[in-house]
Amino acid sequence: MSSADDLKRKAAEAALEYVRGIPILGIGTGSTVNHFIDLLADFRHEIEGAVSSSEASTERLKKLGIPVLDLNAVGDLEVYVDGADEINPHLQLIKGGGGALTREKIIAAASRKFVCIADEGKYVDVLGRFPLPIEVIPMARSYVSRQMVKLGGQPQWREGYVTDNGGQIIDVHNLEILKPIELEQNINNIPGVVTVGIFALRPADVVLLGTPEGVKTLSR
Ligand code: A5P
Repeated sequence: MSSADDLKRKAAEAALEYVRGIPILGIGTGSTVNHFIDLLADFRHEIEGAVSSSEASTERLKKLGIPVLDLNAVGDLEVYVDGADEINPHLQLIKGGGGALTREKIIAAASRKFVCIADEGKYVDVLGRFPLPIEVIPMARSYVSRQMVKLGGQPQWREGYVTDNGGQIIDVHNLEILKPIELEQNINNIPGVVTVGIFALRPADVVLLGTPEGVKTLSR
């Protein structure tokens, strides 16, 4: 039987064909992306650089000799490769389990193609089993949490955790996200919210799902 990590590795391998020949890549965060970064090492001579979604990925890229570039200096990207915490049949996602959702959402928005890599355990019919991460401005944490209770969720402060942007994270449990676009917009409108981890307004374009039978490709 394959472990979730084997399936992540398979998905990461399958993503390589989406980036060959592209000089500047957008790179996400997490254990699946870590496999992808490691696999990129063999092609580093072909890569001009990468725009990274977190300090953790930046460090890993730099260790492998891949230059990390500023999104402001490179403009829109051809392709962004990142993982997810949940994926629905519309390729809408929950992200932010690793806390990097804000930079991830910026890079996804600035990329022409978003290739999402994951093990099959991330695939769900309805988003929300995974607690929804929301990055907030610290002084707004309680206010935003109260708004989440009004929406039917149970917010939990990720105490002690500070994002790469100096923000805090609330994980909202027990939401059944039947209308992801609407909920993303509603939460975006709450003062103090920096980023909500629903990626529905800008979903993935391709999902490469590692399964024991091989990698399944889902696309829009
Ligand atoms: C980072 O904040 C998240 O959005 C990651 O993309 C997600 O948590 C990745 O999960 P894996 O570690 O399982 O790849």
